[in-house]
Amino acid sequence: MTSNQHFAYRNTELTCESVLLREAVARFGTPLYLYSRQAIVERCRGIEGAFDGHPHLVCYAVKANANPAILRLVQEEGFGADVGSRGELHLALRAGFRPDRITFSGVGKRDDEIEEALVRGVRAFAVESVQEIAVINQIAERRGTMGRILLRVNLDIDAGGHAYISTSRKQNKFGIPRHQACEVLLRASELSHIDVRGVHSHIGSQITDVEVFLNAARSLAGLVGELRGAGLRLPDLDFGGGYGVQYHGFLRHPELPVERPEHGDLSAAGMIRTLLPVLSATGCSLSIQPGRAIVAESGVLVVRVLYRKETGEKNFIIVDGGMNDLIRPSLYHAHHQIVPVRLQGASHERVDVVGPVCESGDFFAQDRLLPRCYRGDLLAVMGAGAYGYVIASNYNARLRPAEVLVDNETMTLIRDRESLEDLERGTVQGRAE
Ligand code: LLP
Repeated sequence: MTSNQHFAYRNTELTCESVLLREAVARFGTPLYLYSRQAIVERCRGIEGAFDGHPHLVCYAVKANANPAILRLVQEEGFGADVGSRGELHLALRAGFRPDRITFSGVGKRDDEIEEALVRGVRAFAVESVQEIAVINQIAERRGTMGRILLRVNLDIDAGGHAYISTSRKQNKFGIPRHQACEVLLRASELSHIDVRGVHSHIGSQITDVEVFLNAARSLAGLVGELRGAGLRLPDLDFGGGYGVQYHGFLRHPELPVERPEHGDLSAAGMIRTLLPVLSATGCSLSIQPGRAIVAESGVLVVRVLYRKETGEKNFIIVDGGMNDLIRPSLYHAHHQIVPVRLQGASHERVDVVGPVCESGDFFAQDRLLPRCYRGDLLAVMGAGAYGYVIASNYNARLRPAEVLVDNETMTLIRDRESLEDLERGTVQGRAE
């Protein structure tokens, strides 16, 4: 069961490791992203340990949370990185990831991004189209180097979950159809500046059913066999990310409404253990690209209640964080458990927790049973460590939140809250007098 010991109530107060969330807010304000260092380290070690000595590399998907302090932490755990843009490559290199431990993914890499990655000497590009392979070949030739590639294969597998984060159906833009893989790779292997390293799949995100992964692993391993039969040498296999986490029932306490975990026992490490026999039978060196599984459960977004509004139809709890700070509920109807930072023995009521942004889609929860709360109270939106701050925006000219990393009783501000000046940075008309 996922009870998260890094976030827990000490008497009535919610803590992250040894820090009271209330005290973090007193220092850094709201809305506030707060992460547990130990939670991240623990997830990294669990995943690393699941490989049982089989040659492998875990490339953390930087897109999940790209805060430099968090990247550094993951790098120090011995992980590689998977990047999806020149910006992510820059951040990964700055955090100390060695280029030969960085994969470059993404369906639309620009020429300058490819060139930069080649010059830096990344481990491999996960390529997604024939044209992209030709462009990498050209640029590699011009730069007098080789472009190492992994072919992203679209396995036409339904990963379940929200359509926006399912990536391996044949109607999705990602990868090359499985039935074209052989021809594409045989051609690629004839190009002078392409080094075909292997195949890759990433079937989607927040996958909670290991059977779905097993189907994909069997299909990909079968493909490796077919490709080898056609004469290709394929030393590497990358199985992507997508390991699901528990968003429901994260914290339990007699005063909280019972929120049952939506899934049984969920852990990336457990899923990898199940997949390992299938993947390792290929004899390939393995890599994976987990993002969410490393950081999601390590983070919360703390917001303050501004107002209550009872309309007869609904009870609204209006908080000072919104969809610009954490878009997952609005964009994917994602569930995040919401809990009071201080338990007050309040009765439960059904509410919508909404933000200040002028969109009806700006909510963190709808028709949710919560302990009754009042103006000034603090609420923690759980499981906000992945795809939280990275998707935050300045919509409604709102300032993006601060980020704090907790290590036992120490709080480190790892990103300043934005200022009004930040809103005008780089503009011409708006310079302050
Ligand atoms: N590798 C590739 C090529 C990816 O596209 C992704 C995520 C990952 C790895 C990491 O997947 P993870 O292990 O984190 O599931 N914004 C959405 C998730 C989008 C995922 C995009 N790709 C959300 O908040 O649920």
